[in-house]
Amino acid sequence: MTRKMKLEKYSELGTFPNVAQVSETGISPLKLSERWDPSRPGADMPLVIEVGCGTAEHTLGMAADDPGRFFIGIDLKGGRLWQGARRALDSGLTNAFFIRIRAEYLADYFPPASISEIWITFPDPHIKRSLKSAEKRLTSPGFIDMYRRILEPGGAVHLKTDNEFFYDYSRKSIERSGGIIQSAADDVHAEEAGGAIHRTTAYERRFIREKRKIMYIKFGF
Ligand SMILES: C[S@@+](CC[C@H](N)C(=O)[O-])C[C@H]1O[C@@H](n2cnc3c(N)ncnc32)[C@H](O)[C@@H]1O
Repeated sequence: MTRKMKLEKYSELGTFPNVAQVSETGISPLKLSERWDPSRPGADMPLVIEVGCGTAEHTLGMAADDPGRFFIGIDLKGGRLWQGARRALDSGLTNAFFIRIRAEYLADYFPPASISEIWITFPDPHIKRSLKSAEKRLTSPGFIDMYRRILEPGGAVHLKTDNEFFYDYSRKSIERSGGIIQSAADDVHAEEAGGAIHRTTAYERRFIREKRKIMYIKFGF
């Protein structure tokens, strides 16, 4: 995609009725007007978010299958969100919404205990062993603390990855941060895991073709 096309998509994204954008660099705490609007259509349904949704294949799939819940895809990359938001509009999905924000600001964006479920599918593992790299992992203690704040009591976080280092890191980080692992699988396609786990995205289909194992963790607090 050329730079011109990218810029066109960014400005079009701002006009979509199913998208909210907060400045990419993010300012914390966010202004009140930038936060989640609990009066928006759909916000009275149970809210499910996907953190780092990319082109939102997973978010769109969940929304199409489950009209009784409201699904929000979150990513910092406008071009990827554009694809998901465009597809939702074209297919008339009214229970999907997209937010361009850094995940670091989720707890400023959503009120405490407002989210019933969080999905994190194939996040960047940031395998460099530096503190800077560790802090960027979406399961580092700072992120887990944020998930705890925005999740409703009894809510759950679902994580899928193809990266063994990230899987082991996440298990330790969750437990060290007071999270409770409710189920874990180190090869979901070899085990008889629950149906929702097997919803696949382009990333996962590629990993399956490459015969890589897909790992899964469900945790709560
Ligand atoms: C490897 S892709 C996976 C996309 C999608 N979950 C899937 O399985 O198709 C990771 C995504 O996470 C997003 N991301 C990474 N760090 C983020 C952050 N701190 N806040 C928001 N999005 C982030 C990236 O922009 C990218 O789109």
